[in-house]
Amino acid sequence: MRAVKAENLTILYEEQRAVEDVTFELDEGETMLLLGPNGAGKTTLLRTIAAFHREYTGKLEVFGRKPEEARDLISYVPQSHVLNERVPLTAIEVVAMGGIYRKGFVHFKIPKEILQKAEEALGFVGLAHIKDRLFRELSGGQKQRVLLARALISDPGLLLLDEPLSALDPSARVEVANVLDKIKHESGITMIITTHDVNPLIDIGDKVLLLNRRLIAFGTPSKVLRDEIIKTVYGPLARVIPIEGKLFCITGDTHLHRHGGGGI
Ligand SMILES: Nc1ncnc2c1ncn2[C@@H]1O[C@H](COP(=O)(O)OP(=O)(O)O)[C@@H](O)[C@H]1O
Ligand SMILES: [Mg+2]
Repeated sequence: MRAVKAENLTILYEEQRAVEDVTFELDEGETMLLLGPNGAGKTTLLRTIAAFHREYTGKLEVFGRKPEEARDLISYVPQSHVLNERVPLTAIEVVAMGGIYRKGFVHFKIPKEILQKAEEALGFVGLAHIKDRLFRELSGGQKQRVLLARALISDPGLLLLDEPLSALDPSARVEVANVLDKIKHESGITMIITTHDVNPLIDIGDKVLLLNRRLIAFGTPSKVLRDEIIKTVYGPLARVIPIEGKLFCITGDTHLHRHGGGGI
């Protein structure tokens, strides 16, 4: 089954086109890495798929429905989580919140079956042993894994992750990338993961979409991650180097390179 289908999708803020004429399809169970420099429109595309942003033209379907009609099937983890860390929630309470919001509870009394699911989800991300620790006292990698557990508790069909590795140090990146690999291989959930650094995630990408306001390329990693393609976005020094059979992208610190007229 088709998990996501975008056809000539143009996304607007007022009259400004932040994303223009994007067409791609993602099958159920596939993982797509959404790659592009700052300002390329990655977050905008992700939020539109999640039905948080609704100003667009063209076609956009999630499991054959409009995004707002597929909400129950979608979990979205924003880039910088908006949890108020002054509230002393434990790890398991943070995870359980994912189930509580979904069920429309108002009061913070966590039903048993949701606590049970939260505990399972924490176990899945390898953090059962810290369930009663305060969220705010966890390491960066542990926090991100707790937020993944929270996104999983509602049994989503589509998991949307905005820069899940960007705030982390290198060892925490590996820790979180391993959990993403586990989600991909053990859960069958379709994932779209935005990243400006594709390297830590390259192994789990079935598809890569290179975005720079417009779609630059879409396809398998080996098809998209080529010198001549990434140079059009990241400049003449960008390179793709195979190391021990694995692709490694050197993109440097780059600025938005505009394609086409109009917009922004
Ligand atoms: N809420 C908003 N209102 C108006 N313009 C926005 C808003 N959010 C993002 N933009 C603009 O849309 C473009 C894409 O931004 P964004 O999707 O955040 O890119 P990325 O996530 O790839 O860095 C940028 O030019 C940005 O300034
Ligand atoms: Mg972004």
